[in-house]
Amino acid sequence: DWTTGNVIDEQVAAIREQVGTKRAICGLSGGVDSAVAAALVQKAIGSQLTCVYVDHGLMRKDETEQVEKDFVAATGVQLKVVDAQERFLAALAGVSDPEEKRKIIGREFIRVFEQAQAEIVAEAPGDQPVEFLVQGTLYPDVVESGGGTGTANIKSHHNVGGLPEDLEFKLIEPLRKLFKDEVRMVGAELGLPDEIVQRQPFPGPGLGIRIVGEVTKERLDLLREADAIAREELTAAGLDRDIWQCPVVLLADVRSVGVQGDGRTYGHPIVLRPVSSEDAMTADWTRMPYDVLAKISTRITNEVAEVNRVVLDVTSKPPGTIEWE
Ligand code: XMP
Repeated sequence: DWTTGNVIDEQVAAIREQVGTKRAICGLSGGVDSAVAAALVQKAIGSQLTCVYVDHGLMRKDETEQVEKDFVAATGVQLKVVDAQERFLAALAGVSDPEEKRKIIGREFIRVFEQAQAEIVAEAPGDQPVEFLVQGTLYPDVVESGGGTGTANIKSHHNVGGLPEDLEFKLIEPLRKLFKDEVRMVGAELGLPDEIVQRQPFPGPGLGIRIVGEVTKERLDLLREADAIAREELTAAGLDRDIWQCPVVLLADVRSVGVQGDGRTYGHPIVLRPVSSEDAMTADWTRMPYDVLAKISTRITNEVAEVNRVVLDVTSKPPGTIEWE
């Protein structure tokens, strides 16, 4: 019988057996999946686990602070924070192709984990080696990256199809057979607070795959502002639980003519992509209240320089995917 209790017991036993007395690191992204994976592995091997939070500069506003506070408060886990903003931006410079971006981000994550691995060993030499990397990979991530039987590669999720070929870590992926709702149940059972377990999904590659065009610091800052406004208004309207997630996308390679004050503008559009879904494998666009859309649109065009248009994505999945890239 499938119960969260059974899943936890089975995984804890399997992880203990796999890791033995060695050590593991777990990449935390601020999302539900990596948090639950980390909590599960911590339950299995305790202080043999170190969590690594990579600040790649592709995060939304206030996300880094939230991981540093909420997750550590909830679990007491050992956390290492790595500032890798320069490195990710440099690796992404000049790149517009979505799959190329995904592979670069996946590879850079691993390079940073390798560096963290070396540092952890240097800090506690003579201790057991750090051999394992914990990832919060879910069943849909595997399927969409072409890992499922008979499925085509739709997009390379950063922690599956985006991994480099020379990966030396052994992977621990305790959620690989689960869907999001099951992961949330496991997280709740492990004692994680609602603020973590009920968070809307956010992809590991972050805002890097929400800028259509090249990823630059300026564009990230702009998108971060627009995204923060959308999230603020959705929360204020009480819609967080009705909406599965709402990607906010910057069409950086598109410009349109507008008018503001008494002058012409030539700016970029922002796309709102609110979706309703059970498991992210399929989705529908959310019929959300017009007055909330109007408020978001007015605020973004007033408050975010260079954005003079807000558009609503009314495509289901399929044929669209949830993210634009
Ligand atoms: P798509 O765009 O494929 O997204 O319909 C399905 C769900 O997966 C999330 N997503 C990702 N999550 N790494 C992640 O951790 C990724 O590379 C990635 N790509 C998409 C997306 O936000 C949605 O919830």
